[in-house]
Amino acid sequence: MKIINTIEELQTIRKELSGTIGFVPTMGALHEGHISLIKNAREDNDIVIVSIFVNPTQFSVNEDLDKYPRRDAADKKICELCKVDYLFMPEINTMYKCDDEVLIKAPKISSFILEGEKRPGHYDGVLQVVLKLFNLVQPSNAYFGKKDAQQLSLISQMVKNLFLPINIVECEIIREQDGLAMSSRNVYLTQEERKEALAISKSLNVTIVSITKGQRDSKTIKDKMYEVMSNLDVEYVAIVNRDFEEIQTIEAKNTIILIACKVGTTRLIDNIWV
Ligand code: PAF
Repeated sequence: MKIINTIEELQTIRKELSGTIGFVPTMGALHEGHISLIKNAREDNDIVIVSIFVNPTQFSVNEDLDKYPRRDAADKKICELCKVDYLFMPEINTMYKCDDEVLIKAPKISSFILEGEKRPGHYDGVLQVVLKLFNLVQPSNAYFGKKDAQQLSLISQMVKNLFLPINIVECEIIREQDGLAMSSRNVYLTQEERKEALAISKSLNVTIVSITKGQRDSKTIKDKMYEVMSNLDVEYVAIVNRDFEEIQTIEAKNTIILIACKVGTTRLIDNIWV
């Protein structure tokens, strides 16, 4: 595996590459969720490129960029074991060379609801960095997890709207054995909070069972989910279609049920695609 730190080196290497390129952009602190994205990329492509970059423009002023977990040595080892060909690890001033840059604006409606409402400007920053990375890597396929469902939807929309010749591959949520969705933030949970957090996946499981039994009413489903998560500080439960429009009735193969909540001081998100 070759580690690349500069734009010049990445562009020089990219010119020489042929075959399909699978790209997995990350912010590091890699866990099983990322590993499954990398494995999918490895299976589908001739070359696999992973990036690790904690992107400052997607953090708002009250979110602590410096507190974001960084585990460069462990991440490099994981990428090596997953047979990644190139690991791109730029510094902030490599990706952002001046203060007054051309900016990307995420769509007004779908980026200012749910995660976007709680984190204004977050998706502008995500799209800005993902577009920069796409332009540098020029992947055939780019891999994103369904856990960040709104991010995945907005990146897919950017690819469509800007006519980028990239296939976005949606990858399944990876869970711990007890159901907790894998997240870099899980490390912040105390043992007690870790147990409490299981109410999140439990509420999604209860929902799957009730939909299987024929329940279609969004309000009834939401009420039950709040009840199952009564021990948690739930920010929202939302039932939307794939365009992130709120729906009153579950639509088969076109519904995402999302949760954001705080467990202690840690904010967690999870969802299911129906
Ligand atoms: O999902 C993430 O880790 C980040 O939002 C991404 C897509 C790597 C952009 O910084």
